Amino acid sequence: MTPDSVPVPRLDVRFRNIRGQVLIARGEDALELTEAAAFVFRRIDGTRTVRRIGEQLAAEYGIGADEAVTDAGDVLTDLADAGFIGVEAPSSCPPPGTYRHRTLSELVAIRERLPGPLGDVGRRLPGYRSAFGKWDDRASVRTKPSRRVAEGRADGPQLYFPPELVPAATHPLFMGTVGPTGVNEFLTQQLYSYLSFTVDLEMSAVVPVTSDISLGRSGLNLPAQMRRDAFNISTDEAWHAQFSHDLIVQVESETSVRALPNPEPAFLCRLAEIEADLDGDTRAMSGLLFAVVSETLISALLSDLPKDRRLPGAVREAVADHAEDEGRHHAYFKSLLHHFWPALDGRQRRNAGVLVPRLIAAFLEPDYTHLALGLFGHGLTAEQVAQILEESYPDAEVERRIRQGSSATVKYFTEIGAIDDHAIRDAFEEASIS
Ligand SMILES: [Fe+2]
Ligand SMILES: [Fe+2]
Repeated sequence: MTPDSVPVPRLDVRFRNIRGQVLIARGEDALELTEAAAFVFRRIDGTRTVRRIGEQLAAEYGIGADEAVTDAGDVLTDLADAGFIGVEAPSSCPPPGTYRHRTLSELVAIRERLPGPLGDVGRRLPGYRSAFGKWDDRASVRTKPSRRVAEGRADGPQLYFPPELVPAATHPLFMGTVGPTGVNEFLTQQLYSYLSFTVDLEMSAVVPVTSDISLGRSGLNLPAQMRRDAFNISTDEAWHAQFSHDLIVQVESETSVRALPNPEPAFLCRLAEIEADLDGDTRAMSGLLFAVVSETLISALLSDLPKDRRLPGAVREAVADHAEDEGRHHAYFKSLLHHFWPALDGRQRRNAGVLVPRLIAAFLEPDYTHLALGLFGHGLTAEQVAQILEESYPDAEVERRIRQGSSATVKYFTEIGAIDDHAIRDAFEEASIS
């Protein structure tokens, strides 16, 4: 942690002052703070830097500013290491009012941000063929209507999600306990689950990456057209998230089947868990790598749902609109991989490569928490839920589905030579995806 780092409070940390004894707690962990450490902790607001907090400590206790900044930094580093606070990287923006008075070394540091002599920019870049030339005439956000569930409504109960894609829905214990109406409701909730997964994927995992690329802040030296196309993708993804959310609202009002409480989707929890193990360097690229992985996986849902005539037209059409846009995104992220990989050194490649199978599994493994919530919502006991999940998702079958869904992604990583590294090859083999 440097004096310019910004410590960030964590919402799940509780602060208690019990008769002068100051404690902070998170989950099972608790820590008693000295008076000075408590003073430092209470000044963390997500905007004050370590330096600013140190200056306040100096003023409070009448000690030298340099010493106080060091002490505050030590306390905050300990708190961050113990998981009680987060840290934002120092801003690359200069402090206000200092633009005109740079030292020579600061100016040299700014010069070093240039990728090379200006005349070279663009010349050494691998080729890029844009799939977005006819975006105005093809993108669903430009050319497709909002899909309305009430139009073309069929009489009688309708199927909202294919049971073949949710093994738990056809488990005899579940079917026998809840009957056909219960199974139908559960399937409708699986549609909500799929749609809200889409909303989170677009807004939390893909748009942040394409937004950085479009702003030229991806850390990669990309062709200008790739930057422009990233704006198109951000627009597409925001539209996918919007119409997916809108579909949930429509189907809820059409069927009166309520969406389940919506905990963070499993892939985001798994991603956070994976990132917690990574060094700073690898963590910095994990978002981009996850976007490459998730955008190149072949989604069985996107390709199967539109053909399933048991489902309402609006659901099929919305998924078909999405699938068409994703064809362009798939091509883009494949190209992005070809620009990303050569920009890494050997160590970074190995760290990135061994991460890929974990990212694939994070994305493709079923969301057991959400499935369990749905089963509990239909009155099943914990023993029944455990039995249904275990028998519906045997390891070998989950692995087979992950292998099937990730074949294109694995092929692209093979093409760029990633698997030539034995550590990466081992990681792919261990995950049974190559
Ligand atoms: Fe999308
Ligand atoms: Fe996409």
